[in-house]
Amino acid sequence: MKSEFEIVPLPYALGAEVKCDDVRALSDDAFETIYQAWLDHLALVFKGPALSDPKLMDLARHFGELTTPTPTEYQAKGMKKREEMDFPLINTISNVKGNDGTPIGGLGDGEAQWHTDSSFTNLPFRASVLHALEIPNSWGGETGVLNMYAALETLPKELKTTIQGRTIKNDLSENSVGWRRRGIPDTIDVRVSPGPSHPIIRTHPETGLNTLYLGRRRYAYIHGLPVDESEDALNALYEHACRDEFAYHHDWSVGDILIWDNRCTMHHRNAFDPEARRIMHRAQTKGTVTYYDPVANSRAPHPRSTLAAVH
Ligand code: OGA
Ligand code: MN
Repeated sequence: MKSEFEIVPLPYALGAEVKCDDVRALSDDAFETIYQAWLDHLALVFKGPALSDPKLMDLARHFGELTTPTPTEYQAKGMKKREEMDFPLINTISNVKGNDGTPIGGLGDGEAQWHTDSSFTNLPFRASVLHALEIPNSWGGETGVLNMYAALETLPKELKTTIQGRTIKNDLSENSVGWRRRGIPDTIDVRVSPGPSHPIIRTHPETGLNTLYLGRRRYAYIHGLPVDESEDALNALYEHACRDEFAYHHDWSVGDILIWDNRCTMHHRNAFDPEARRIMHRAQTKGTVTYYDPVANSRAPHPRSTLAAVH
């Protein structure tokens, strides 16, 4: 009998496609295997017809308990309020404007810098489940995902020593396209600006392996270092991690679903044709408290981070 699905690893530093006839018809047993494949490959792609929001939420529930997108108090200015939306658990990411001129979703048409979803909250998401409903057919809008196990594995020794055991302030002033959140003052001092702290090297609660956990570059701060040293270390960390060698870039078709693990990846979006319409719906699942277990370093590397260490 033909299996109801097949997992095909992508020829990059992370990612696998789950090939199946209809994601809505997959059994719970299938999802047990698919969940393990997600831990093994960090991001999964499904292809198929566009799903309704309830079906997208059903799929996302296999990757954890659904949680609200950016809480209203952190939403960027000028966006429709969460509680005014049909499905408040669905995040719309779009450059399209409604009849009243208000964007129907976030992030506009510009580049979204490398980031990890909701790292500016105490319990950053486990999974983000991003689904394409309308895609520009001219240019841009690809979404890149990075393998942060591999980034840590290959980190130069001195840089690793600088960050070992330290925490990073995940500033919440701006979203990934540089829009200010509500209520943030004009001048920002990275040492005291609002946002939670998370370990820079983070232990993944399910694989038990350590990964580089950066959040987003803008206004980040490594606690305990003078600001200029923190800036230098952050620049070096981002330069090291945000490389094509560690990335998979997804070129969207309508109906595609990309599910990434926020605990061990970062993602990025290319700018796209402002004349074109792009509409994405995202569901997301609840994470757990971040922590660092120094002993996890001594375990075998993650199977998808087998790149040679550069030090
Ligand atoms: C997100 C995100 C990028 C994109 O959904 O968290 O960053 O490609 N999206 O829309
Ligand atoms: Mn994001």
